[in-house]
Amino acid sequence: MDTTDLVLAILHHLLVFSLAGIIGAEFVLVRGDLGATTRLSGIDRHYGIIAALIIIVGVCRVFFGLKGWDFYVYNWVFWAKMAAFAIVGLLSIVPTMRFISWNRQASGDPSFAVPAAELASVKNYVRAEGFIFLLIPVFAAAMARGYGY
Ligand code: HEM
Repeated sequence: MDTTDLVLAILHHLLVFSLAGIIGAEFVLVRGDLGATTRLSGIDRHYGIIAALIIIVGVCRVFFGLKGWDFYVYNWVFWAKMAAFAIVGLLSIVPTMRFISWNRQASGDPSFAVPAAELASVKNYVRAEGFIFLLIPVFAAAMARGYGY
């Protein structure tokens, strides 16, 4: 029994489910009327905080988890999971910048309407984020069971 490993695993799961919830919420909100812009940038701020916490807790799992760091660093499935997480992070940059910009413009001009082309591109980014995100638990389950050597 190892309490540190258990606590890290619980935190990791709670955080990754929260991030999934946020991506899901953004996925739905960018489809609605963009009176949702204020909510989007508020929700998106939590995305950054939760992603940062996932990195901290994830790295702690690598170094302080039951299996030891060498279980992961030589495992390509672990690195595939890291790459997928990094790609999701990179894909989130454009939507984040747009949400901030829309929010700023909407607060200065109540009649502001999100340009259709910007909205369409943000939808594509959020959709791509959602699909790549689905790969992360697939890689996680495989690496945890020793696949990837
Ligand atoms: C820097 C980011 C991350 C690091 C360093 C990291 C690291 C880890 C580690 C060390 C484990 C333990 C695996 C084992 O039991 O041997 C784990 C498990 C897991 N991770 Fe991550 N993780 C990260 C991000 C994520 C993200 C974004 C997700 C989103 C879905 C995720 C989902 C999971 C799941 C579902 C498990 C449990 C796998 C299982 O036991 O079947 N991780 N992670």
